[in-house]
Amino acid sequence: VDAARCVPVALGDRSYTVHIEPGCLRELGSVLARVVDAERAVVVTSERVGALYGAVVTESLARAGLGSSTIVVPDGDRAKSLAQLSDIFDRLVACGADRDTFLVAVGGGAVGDLAGLAAATYLRGVPWVQVPTTLLAQADASVGGKTAVNHPAGKNLIGAFHQPRLVWIDPRVLRTLPARELRSGMAEVVKSAVIWDPQMFAWLEVHAERVPALDTDAVAHALERAVAVKAEIVGRDEREGGIRALLNFGHTLGHAIEAASGFGEVLHGEAISLGMVFAARRSRRIGLPARDVDRIVSLLERLGLPVVLADTPAQWCAYRRALAHDKKRRDGLFWMVLLREIGRAELSPCTLDEMLEGRTAA
Ligand SMILES: NC(=O)c1ccc[n+]([C@@H]2O[C@H](COP(=O)([O-])OP(=O)(O)OC[C@H]3O[C@@H](n4cnc5c(N)ncnc54)[C@H](O)[C@@H]3O)[C@@H](O)[C@H]2O)c1
Ligand SMILES: [Zn+2]
Repeated sequence: VDAARCVPVALGDRSYTVHIEPGCLRELGSVLARVVDAERAVVVTSERVGALYGAVVTESLARAGLGSSTIVVPDGDRAKSLAQLSDIFDRLVACGADRDTFLVAVGGGAVGDLAGLAAATYLRGVPWVQVPTTLLAQADASVGGKTAVNHPAGKNLIGAFHQPRLVWIDPRVLRTLPARELRSGMAEVVKSAVIWDPQMFAWLEVHAERVPALDTDAVAHALERAVAVKAEIVGRDEREGGIRALLNFGHTLGHAIEAASGFGEVLHGEAISLGMVFAARRSRRIGLPARDVDRIVSLLERLGLPVVLADTPAQWCAYRRALAHDKKRRDGLFWMVLLREIGRAELSPCTLDEMLEGRTAA
């Protein structure tokens, strides 16, 4: 049975629902007519996703009596530039978008981040909804209201917090997602279990492969749990003053790997898989049992994610350079996320040298 699962994100007057239901894409129009008190939709999507699902979305909006226009941006992180953001503003102005307009992001995390930043800033903020179409975006990126574009100097350097009014997830769209993208998305699912949900981790140890194989129940369960973890954390710390940073488990080194490889070469989930292995090993120092390190590494390995870091001096030089630019440093310190046990993470301050354990003396 394809029952709907709804996860609330509790943020006072910015609260919203994450709705997960196979086949729900074609119902988007009718729910939007109820949820958003605006009359016109501007759909932001990417070339590939627009070709696959654009018509279903616009037909659904039309059936619900919502007028819409569509803005198509490039696939992947090429969409996340100031030039693309500027193009969106041009298009919004040209089609007379006003405060009765809302944006609908239909695509992966890149489209969501771009459209969200446009929604956060156009007319000082218009409503928006997320229709994520990758596993990574459904399990993680679409929830929590972080939006951004990249700067040549670094990823996500220009952004804003702007919560969507609704996150509408149709897991069936994952059928057209390349296998490598599915595996990459699994890394965020594993991450949420590792930092917060030991039962989910145990479930993954039994059922993990069923998710990238797109078993309907397993996908729904994995999405529901990952989203619930993120919703709970964001509900307690919307703007990352504290525990929201736990969601960055594996991301400090992960981002450095992405930057060092030139963005796009290594997928986000692949990089954070390596970052999680690194952070799990480091967590031995604060008491994570060796057995739990092994459990994390073998789960990632089983999912076809990389677990062996390129460990040459040249590589560490590149990671060091990338880490030196990390925007999350405060007073020169990194806040690395470490584990006491599976399901219990904490923030631990360390210097760049401690982080790299003296590898590649500069
Ligand atoms: N805002 C957040 O909290 C947050 C969290 C994590 C990641 N992100 C951002 O998300 C981005 C990565 O997102 P992503 O992994 O979804 O990658 P992506 O958005 O680049 O999408 C990956 C590729 O899959 C294609 N695609 C998307 N849906 C498809 C479908 N259903 N069928 C076939 N092809 C499809 C896209 O066109 C693209 O080529 C990064 O820019 C990252 O910074 C944001
Ligand atoms: Zn991530």
